[in-house]
Amino acid sequence: MAIHVTTNDQKTTFCIETKNALYQMQADGYGVLKHLWYGAKTDCDMSYLLDYPDVGFSGNIYEAENQRTYSLDTLPLEYAGAGIGDYRISAIDVVHADGSKALDLRYKNYEIRKGKYAITGLPAVYATEDEAETLRIVLKDTATGIEVILLYGVLADLDLITRCAEIRNIGETPAILTKAASLCLDIPHGDWEWVHFYGRHTMERQIERLPLLHGIQESSSVRGTSSHQQNPTVLLCKPDCTETMGECIGAAFVYSGSFQTQIECDQLGQIRLVMGIHPELFRWTLYPGEVFTTPEVMLSYSNTGLETLSHQFHKIIREHVCRGKYQLAERPILINNWEATYFDFNTEKILHIAQEASRLGVDMLVLDDGWFGKRDGDVSGLGDWFVNEDKLVGGLGNLVEKIKAMGLQFGIWFEPEMVSEDSNLYRSHPDWAIRIPGRNPNRSRFQLLLDMTNPDVIDYLYQVMSDILSSADISYVKWDMNRSICDWYTATLSPERQGEMPHRYMLGLYDLLDRLTNAFPDVLFEGCSGGGGRFDAGMLYYCPQIWCSDDTDAYERTKIQYGTSFFYPISTVGSHVSIVPNHQTGRITPIESRAVTAMAGSFGYELDLNVLTHGEKEEVKKQIAQFKAYGSLIHNGKYYRLTNPMTDKEAIWSFVSKDASEVLVQGMLFHTEPNMVRHMVCLRGLSPKKKYQLSGTEMVYTGAALMNGGILLPKAWGDYTPVSMYLTEIV
Ligand code: DGJ
Repeated sequence: MAIHVTTNDQKTTFCIETKNALYQMQADGYGVLKHLWYGAKTDCDMSYLLDYPDVGFSGNIYEAENQRTYSLDTLPLEYAGAGIGDYRISAIDVVHADGSKALDLRYKNYEIRKGKYAITGLPAVYATEDEAETLRIVLKDTATGIEVILLYGVLADLDLITRCAEIRNIGETPAILTKAASLCLDIPHGDWEWVHFYGRHTMERQIERLPLLHGIQESSSVRGTSSHQQNPTVLLCKPDCTETMGECIGAAFVYSGSFQTQIECDQLGQIRLVMGIHPELFRWTLYPGEVFTTPEVMLSYSNTGLETLSHQFHKIIREHVCRGKYQLAERPILINNWEATYFDFNTEKILHIAQEASRLGVDMLVLDDGWFGKRDGDVSGLGDWFVNEDKLVGGLGNLVEKIKAMGLQFGIWFEPEMVSEDSNLYRSHPDWAIRIPGRNPNRSRFQLLLDMTNPDVIDYLYQVMSDILSSADISYVKWDMNRSICDWYTATLSPERQGEMPHRYMLGLYDLLDRLTNAFPDVLFEGCSGGGGRFDAGMLYYCPQIWCSDDTDAYERTKIQYGTSFFYPISTVGSHVSIVPNHQTGRITPIESRAVTAMAGSFGYELDLNVLTHGEKEEVKKQIAQFKAYGSLIHNGKYYRLTNPMTDKEAIWSFVSKDASEVLVQGMLFHTEPNMVRHMVCLRGLSPKKKYQLSGTEMVYTGAALMNGGILLPKAWGDYTPVSMYLTEIV
């Protein structure tokens, strides 16, 4: 049992023990649920660490009578209410029927259940009955009928605790939720830094590590998607925490819409982390008897550095978030026509690309944007998911048959949530587009959004997409989403419920994804939002891989993929070799370096292979053979960030098999110099006593030598020199 509860002296203490961590809370005599500890195992009641300072202007709860030291403003709380004298960030906010805005949550009871809870309509970590336990702690407002049930899903072997909150109105009057966070985590002691992942289109998940300053720091999105600009993940680390040592906590939101992560360092230097749906566009009316359940957050702790924490998240996401036939299966090597043709293609051109791809060993051709409606550019056609037979003469069936005859599978692109004003769909259903009556809507890439809160829209999309997917032998769908959302208004909700729309949009999207992935279980769904604008654990529940970035420049990708790797497993990272000069940066990198970077993901090509030289084509054949040989090690092995491409002169990473019998070291040296000293890198995760032979050479090293002395990297010749070294155990 990972969950233990003890009651004495009017105190109920909750202990959640995972493999390497202890999470502890205590409800005291006033019924206040305090957070005591999240860290290394201590086998001790950690309430001795609580200080009860008499701090001026930090008031006291009424029941404390003349004690000046019991203050909700200074105690670490498990789920902070609002408006009752805790002036730090709240986890929840409610407007009651009388207009007052307060919530004083006190402990009522608890329950432990076998297995992991699920959340209706939302993605969430899943596990078998034997792999997980659930703790439900019921808190109740002192004055109204609002109850908050805190849910903890515990996968002890994986060092994972999930959290979400069920908010119930068991009173007689409606209440309006204006904030409902999934996670509130108070850390009363110690120095901490935080790490977040920021960026922009074609430059996602750049890492930033910062000291925590007094006051509130935030990473968030109000774009209706998890966004390119900030990722819904955060790390808290002790200042001495590195890849291989020190304490850190990771939190990842299993949600793809607007979110807010706030960290407050309070007047006493205590830390509060709150993560959940962004409150700015959120108002949810709870009528008597109604329940609102927040999406969930995954939490994990490590005291052996960031590498361990990443390994924990990789395993959790790969084995307990991603699902379906392709969850653990090796992914097809695909060729996508986007950067080869953009909108300018026809059947002949696509077959020409497919023919060479097939000859060189590619598994699948993916037909990107432009195959439907009137879609010769980005100003028209979205919503008309009917084959454009002027471009694809003979229809989709004909194209797919010919591609299949070449020995390739076939995949296709959709952008289901969008509509162009110049489309038949918009002409017949202008009311399906999101806009505020009386205002001009914001256009982005010339397109509008469909109202995913409208069941008719979901049914329409389900039908047209199902028709296409059933019309030919289609093995893959790329689900794109190319704009941020604004102009929130829907005729499906009454004026007072408009604030529910952003979350209801997500529920509609997840419903459609659920229906389609269930109806087409053999299809591999890949997520995308102008690259990695919706790269989050919510989408990974439906799509086991996501196009990581529209930036295919191998050098830039080393940084984007480095940031992505802190939470997301390698198999989830869609990554392709493209042409040079690169279309996003104009940079020229060797084809070998483009390949090793793309191999740190779900591998493919995004160019017309016909334009390559004979030598380059031979190189492509080798790369494909390499990915077929190493793909399982890359996706199932442990991933090590051996250098930091943001600061080091090279980007080097490795994949080590579970039994440490093989290791693949890959990456690139950024710049060359004359008379350059060879770079070396120390490997990790090997067995010190084992002997490893470097493939293609007679060189044999012990694991201890490779981990302490390191391995010499190839001599740099030209910028972006590729590195790819495979070592296996010899006995
Ligand atoms: C954005 C995607 O990230 C690209 O790969 C491509 O599919 C385009 N959209 C198509 O419009």
